[in-house]
Amino acid sequence: MTSTASTPQLPAQAPAARPSARLSAAPAGYPAPMYPHRATEEQHSERRIRSFQPRRGRMTPAQAGALDRNWDRWGLAIDGSPLDLTRLFGELPVTLEIGFGMGETTATMAAADPAMGILAVDVHTPGHGNLLNLLEQSGAQNVRLAAGDAVILLRDMLVDDCLAGLRIYFADPWPKPKHHKRRLVQTDFLDLVLPRLAPGALVHCATDWEPYAEQMLDVLGARPELVNLHPEGDGSAWTDEERQADGTVPGYAPRPTWRPVTKFERAGLAKGHVVHDLLFRKV
Ligand SMILES: C[S@@+](CC[C@H](N)C(=O)[O-])C[C@H]1O[C@@H](n2cnc3c(N)ncnc32)[C@H](O)[C@@H]1O
Repeated sequence: MTSTASTPQLPAQAPAARPSARLSAAPAGYPAPMYPHRATEEQHSERRIRSFQPRRGRMTPAQAGALDRNWDRWGLAIDGSPLDLTRLFGELPVTLEIGFGMGETTATMAAADPAMGILAVDVHTPGHGNLLNLLEQSGAQNVRLAAGDAVILLRDMLVDDCLAGLRIYFADPWPKPKHHKRRLVQTDFLDLVLPRLAPGALVHCATDWEPYAEQMLDVLGARPELVNLHPEGDGSAWTDEERQADGTVPGYAPRPTWRPVTKFERAGLAKGHVVHDLLFRKV
């Protein structure tokens, strides 16, 4: 994508490196005590079903060092305060990426499209350090890393119509039926996220977990605010059972060339899983 939008000047890199792998040595502003799901008392006391497993991540020294050096430049705590995306990204349109994992895909896609701002959110602490390392290497001007729960970010910190896109790549599949309520992409989540998307925003999900792909197709396809960009399907050879009652094939998208293979996708492919992309546009 090209754009004439000007890129904001981010603050200069924090001068003092304070290399440490100790969680207690978190930079100021990083969600203390580095349990992002407990970033604030309010978040901690919420008895919500979460789409992630709260776990204390062990950072490598390299990740902790990157956090120390780069948090002030790229990091955002999910603390419930409203975010001013123009202050963060200038005139760039902004895509929200939920669950960036170790951040390789985020960094690659941001470098390939500097005219798109990426607000990348995850709770995974080693991933925060890893992405900050990658951003330091590339000097990316169009990325911000939000540390914490995307649901809080969407609910309390973003206003309506502020996002030009949403990416969710290989969200946790939660395969056991008793955990299906933890899956991110479901009706309640769409009630929260769709108003934050501007008209024309691109919604892009990918998964290697077939039942979750079907759930995504059902819940996204049921929303009148969204249009499936590939109602004809991805051209796969579908069996009769997979065809819908009207004879059409499910509306997965052909794999977009601009989405790199992600870490979790590689693991899924090694297990023989089939990957589905879904592309919808907000009307
Ligand atoms: C299976 S991993 C996929 C990571 C990466 N997208 C990839 O394909 O390699 C899913 C990620 O989503 C994150 N996640 C799940 N629910 C989240 C939420 N509500 N807010 C922020 N991150 C979340 C998890 O912490 C995890 O890192």
